[in-house]
Amino acid sequence: MPRVTVLGLFCADLIARTPRMPVWGETLHGRGFSLLAGGKGSNQAVAAARQGAEVSFISRLGDDAFAPIARELYAREGVDATHVGTDPEAATGTATILVDDERGDNAIVIDPGACERLTTAHVDAAEARIAESAVFISQLELPLEICQHGMRLAQRHGVPVILNPAPARALPTEMFQGIDYLTPNESEAALLVGHPVETDAEIEAAAATLRERGVRNVLITLGERGVYIDGETFQGVVPAIAVDRVVDTIGAGDAFNGALAAALADGLDLPTAARRACATAGLSVTRPGAAPAVPTRAEVDAALQAG
Ligand code: RIB
Ligand code: NA
Repeated sequence: MPRVTVLGLFCADLIARTPRMPVWGETLHGRGFSLLAGGKGSNQAVAAARQGAEVSFISRLGDDAFAPIARELYAREGVDATHVGTDPEAATGTATILVDDERGDNAIVIDPGACERLTTAHVDAAEARIAESAVFISQLELPLEICQHGMRLAQRHGVPVILNPAPARALPTEMFQGIDYLTPNESEAALLVGHPVETDAEIEAAAATLRERGVRNVLITLGERGVYIDGETFQGVVPAIAVDRVVDTIGAGDAFNGALAAALADGLDLPTAARRACATAGLSVTRPGAAPAVPTRAEVDAALQAG
């Protein structure tokens, strides 16, 4: 089985569905509260595992009521959690999420808890596992130096790196150098390049700029349109699959990234891997939550055959 190592955050997603965004000082009645496994890294690890990869996750939890949600998830999904430590002095990460009951849009506040206290030594402890991986992936929910450290370790061992630059933040220019796959959505890309990324021309210009900074393959995800790729051997849009009803888009990006990691680790070429990733994300928005919404490999195969 192809090996994928994910460095990132687990957090408990505390999700309330609301008729609209409250304003400061206002109390609204929501409905259907749920407590689900979340965190971009953890969601990506689960997505890659459901696509058939052998996944190792590097992270940190507190010693509290939310930690078992993570531990049980990894046991159930077959994600190796050897490098998911416990910090008795910190809380497990949380994401407080409001979902618009009509449109499915969301607003999120993240508190990374124990993951704020991840050190480079914790990442070093997983070096052997990183070195034997076919793909390494990280995101921007951890302290930046931890993410950079993991990427450098992977690069030192010649392991292809995916950086999912989410949530959006500006990055030091030298960080782009040598990234094999960078996967921003449009707003994340806009923040990275410093201009709007909405029209086709802006999307292409942003990807070109990121390539000039040293990224080998830029994949700008476009929601229901699919993904624009500017890469070493492919340039163009890979389309999404048609989706009848959006329940919530939480974790759609993670489904995309986890599936992309698994498909690339499997040796698929970039457009084929991206198409699988789009289908995985498309199916995930038809179901509630992030990690629990990720489809299996068989479900993705069926969706690709149908569409
Ligand atoms: O990408 C979606 C994830 O971002 C959610 O699961 C939430 O935890 C936030 O981290
Ligand atoms: Na979802």
